[in-house]
Amino acid sequence: MLPLIPYPTTMNLSGGTCRFNPDTLVFQEQSTLPHEGYHLSITPTQTVLAFADDAGRFYGEQTLQQLTSPDGTVPLGEIEDAPRFSWRGFMIDSSRHIQTVDEIKAFIAAAARYKLNVFHWHLCDDQGWRFESERYPRLNEIGAFRNGWGFGNPNPERYGGLFTKAQIRDIIAFCAARHITVVPEIDMPGHSAAVLKSYPHLSCIGDAADVPTGAGVFSSVLCAGKEETFEFCCGILEEVMDLFPGKYIHIGGDEVPKDNWDACPLCQKRIADEGLKDSEDLQGYFTARICAFLREHGKTPIGWNEVLNAGICPQDMVATKWWDRENRCDAFANSGGKIIMEETAHVYLDYDYHRTPLRQTYSYDLQPDTLTAAGKQNVLGIEAPIWTEWVETFSRMGYMCFPRLLAVAELGWCGKAPTDYPAFRQRAEAQRAALDALGVTMAPAEDWDPEDT
Ligand code: ACM
Ligand code: ZN
Repeated sequence: MLPLIPYPTTMNLSGGTCRFNPDTLVFQEQSTLPHEGYHLSITPTQTVLAFADDAGRFYGEQTLQQLTSPDGTVPLGEIEDAPRFSWRGFMIDSSRHIQTVDEIKAFIAAAARYKLNVFHWHLCDDQGWRFESERYPRLNEIGAFRNGWGFGNPNPERYGGLFTKAQIRDIIAFCAARHITVVPEIDMPGHSAAVLKSYPHLSCIGDAADVPTGAGVFSSVLCAGKEETFEFCCGILEEVMDLFPGKYIHIGGDEVPKDNWDACPLCQKRIADEGLKDSEDLQGYFTARICAFLREHGKTPIGWNEVLNAGICPQDMVATKWWDRENRCDAFANSGGKIIMEETAHVYLDYDYHRTPLRQTYSYDLQPDTLTAAGKQNVLGIEAPIWTEWVETFSRMGYMCFPRLLAVAELGWCGKAPTDYPAFRQRAEAQRAALDALGVTMAPAEDWDPEDT
């Protein structure tokens, strides 16, 4: 079996090989091929790579690169290939621990090799703001830093930093060259401790707790009763839209404790004035206002599945299914809403291999039968996050993500596992040298499925 990931849809190989000669490579535009698809035809005298668009050409080139053995030979025959899902994503949390630009690029280059096409960038959270803002400079000076990190025995050193606009532009261009869309996330109204430390007047109770130095869900949420909160959120989103050219903007919405809202006179007044039921509905009101703003600017908002908890979620927003206790994403997709599959039990790459063995990631069903036939069509694809509370170094990040992200890439491209699991493990192991060459660490094979031996 050829060591390809993702495994191509259709292969018709003769069994022979030839030495690959780049001078005989012919590119052919063929509009009948699908978006992102390609056709490779390899004979001893020439290789023809046909595609309908630039992404298809890029993916054909990735396959050709993977097909080429260390001795420079390629198999003879035909490959016809196209992705099953349009959303093949990975998320990097740059808040809990920040990465360098070169580390982010190395990770992106690895993702592109496996035909992933969405980089969801988690740019802010309680533990640090990482997006350089011109309008709100206190985010850069205060929100981007915290006093160390850790439980019990925190390292007292100041920790932090951010990505400048020039660095972000550089990363967006690096992604564009690899047909990867960058989806920035500004998480609101929860996970906002770093914002509130910078601008305490945006909270319900004027609190300015320190930027936290440990993991958790905090009650530091933006006040939904104040107009200043909406001015701030829309102001930041304008800066984000000026920088990120993509159609999608992620607005978070996860894990929003309602205790401050329940106790806040302004939030309670908003609930009464708008005829809302409770603080859960108030989050729905908040989400709807932010979504309307993004829509006016031609953007499509995305939120974590909690945005569905209030009964009033805009139908044209995309929901990311991560931990959907009430299965609201199913109902949302069944009634026409778009969803992205990103469930903790299968693709949370911060969970260790004991909790989420590679086998479990590879068995993720992206179109479960809890969805109707129409609901299945509303699954945009798959995404896997690497949350970095416990991921301090880039080599640790590589260890946690690879090979599980290879399984994600293959499921996103193929729809479901194209080969049996042992064959996938072999194909994954065959990627080690290429990942090494990109500076990305892969976990040793004995760690992938700890309970199997
Ligand atoms: C999440 O893991 N809080 C989306
Ligand atoms: Zn409030």
